[in-house]
This record gives sequence, structure tokens and C-alpha cells, in this order.
Amino acid sequence: LLAPARPADLSGRRVVVSAGGTREALDPVRFLGNRSSGRQGVALAQAATERGALVTLVAANVGTEVLAGLSRGVDVVPVESGEDLRRAVRDAARAADVVVMAAAIADYRPATASDSKLKKSGGGTTLTLVETTDVLRELVTDPPRRGQVVVGFAAETGDSEGSVLDHARAKAVRKGADLLVVNPVGDGRGFGTSTNDVTVVDGSGDVVTTASGTKLEVSHAIWDVVVPVLDGRAA
Ligand code: CTP
Ligand code: CA
Repeated sequence: LLAPARPADLSGRRVVVSAGGTREALDPVRFLGNRSSGRQGVALAQAATERGALVTLVAANVGTEVLAGLSRGVDVVPVESGEDLRRAVRDAARAADVVVMAAAIADYRPATASDSKLKKSGGGTTLTLVETTDVLRELVTDPPRRGQVVVGFAAETGDSEGSVLDHARAKAVRKGADLLVVNPVGDGRGFGTSTNDVTVVDGSGDVVTTASGTKLEVSHAIWDVVVPVLDGRAA
């Protein structure tokens, strides 16, 4: 079977996608991390290249088996920590028309990283954590390039405070990105799987589209709603 023909509607556009999960060092051998596989971000990069974009993928600890899904021509910049990712994204974003923040970035990192391996001292221990920079928020408040489209992601669970969509709407308004891609997590959904279901909301929290399917199918559905925003921007 041939893959369905995709529109070349990102032809000549420069796209930056961040993917994967950051690692925040405790010492030379240990880190605080998360379970993001990078699959959705890699699929977004792949979908963009299929539609004609020039793509930079800032890949935080993405496995080679996941990166193997990419066409040649996607520029992959490997990073480890949130601060590495921030630098790489902002650098690539200086020439970008669109930045998509699909990476799971640690909200906190150890206040200090030891140069030598920490020793066990018995009786338990306490880690002091400090907040990391919100890269997405900073892309909105201090854009590396004027007029670029910024897309965020939000993995949400419903709780006593509200539904997945309630949380997503509040986050969309708080972050100020042009679009926010929301995916419900928990119950085996979202992390490490090859399928996904998402709702895309705009900066006011209004639903723009929903999509489900393989991460590549979902990625194309996301680009279907990003492209009109991009085309609506003055060059
Ligand atoms: N993000 C970021 N920098 C951070 C944390 C998150 O750029 N330090 C980005 C993610 O890449 C994602 C979006 O912000 O595109 C939302 O991440 P999420 O963790 O859902 O939002 P937070 O604002 O960190 O809120 P919380 O974790 O409390 O739900
Ligand atoms: Ca977070």
C-alpha cells in the first residue's frame, strides 16, 4: 500500500520540534527523568518533513529505535537536560516559522549536581529541587523570531479540580501559545504507546480539532490546523 499523498503545505517552512524527556543530573551517574519516549514529537517532525518543511528535531534522550522512524534530512540535535533543550530550541528557533514543544521537560531540577558520585550515608536523604525555566512560556514572552507560531503540548489527567479539558483550557490561557495539543494520560494512554488521541485548543482554550490514531496520523491532523495559523501570519 502506498502512503496517502500529503499536501506540500509546509514547503520551504522552517520547523523546530522538541521531543523526548529531559534528564536532570544529580551526579555523574544519576538523574531525575520521566517516561516520555519521544514518539509523538518524532512523528510530528516526520509529518512536517513529509509536507515539505525543513525540520530541526531537538531530541531529549530519544532512543535510536524511535529516531529510526525519521526520514533522512531531518536535523537531529540531541540534548539531555532542560537547560540544554532550552538553548538548542532557542538557537534553532531564530530561523523558524513554527516551534512545537512536544518534549516533556522537568519542572524541577536538583539545586546542585555533584561533580563526583554521591555516597550513601544511611538514614535516608532529602533532595532540594529548584524550578526550571518554562521554555514554552519564554518562547511566547521573549520570541527568538517575531511572528513565529508556537505550539505547546499538555499531558493531562482529570482530577477533583476539573476534567482534562478544564485543565487544558486553563493551561492554554496561562501559556499564551497559539495552539495547545492536549492528550489524556494515565490508564496506559499516551506514554510509550504508538497511538494517541488529542484535542487541540487555541490560545483562548477553544477546541480547534480532535484526532486519534497512530502518532503519525495524529501529527498530520495537528499540522492540518497549524498550517492555517501559519498562513494567516504576515511574512
Ligand atoms: N514546558 C516547557 N518548559 C518547562 C515545562 C514545560 O517548555 N519547564 C512545555 C512543555 O514542552 C509543553 C508545555 O510546556 O509544551 C506544557 O507542559 P506541562 O508539563 O503540561 O505544563 P506545566 O506548565 O509544566 O504545568 P504542570 O506540569 O503543572 O501541569
Ligand atoms: Ca510540567
